[in-house]
Amino acid sequence: MDEERREKKETTHEEPLEEVAGIRMANARVPRFLVITYVTLAAWAIGYSVLAQPVNERTEDTAGNKPVDGKTIVQQHCLGCHNLTKEALVGPGLQGVGQRLPGEKLTNVLLNGRGAMPSLPNQGLDSEQIKAVEKYLRTL
Ligand code: HEC
Repeated sequence: MDEERREKKETTHEEPLEEVAGIRMANARVPRFLVITYVTLAAWAIGYSVLAQPVNERTEDTAGNKPVDGKTIVQQHCLGCHNLTKEALVGPGLQGVGQRLPGEKLTNVLLNGRGAMPSLPNQGLDSEQIKAVEKYLRTL
């Protein structure tokens, strides 16, 4: 059995070298590190294609991490342009905004934006977060 294999090996070594496009192809084996690289890359590619999700779905999926507390969301998204006092910054101060914009009026500004005010959906907030923000604003 062993002898047979050795013989075979020898014969393959003696085979004339093939020529492909003028390049002599030795029947060299693919180096082990390349095999490992190929297999790893293939496994990664398959895994990635199965597990990867479009970015827009990913934000929805991070439900566990997204803030749903109105105050936290306002602190993270709004304080660059708004004070929580009456004092204006880029936009008007948000204190008393619930009385200034009762009912639907506040909802509309949040959902659709107004002038230089970006809508909350455009700020990456989902409907649950927007409800929380609105509830919090009405307490100011
Ligand atoms: C890029 C700056 C910017 C950011 C960020 C921003 N706003 Fe505004 N906001 C404005 C501007 C400017 C106005 C005034 C719009 C106008 O003149 O009609 C405004 C107006 C408003 C109004 C109406 C106020 C009033 O008295 O009529 C509300 C409510 C409001 N913003 C809430 C928010 C909330 C909540 C966030 C965070 C989720 C936020 N804004 C983030 C710029 C911003």
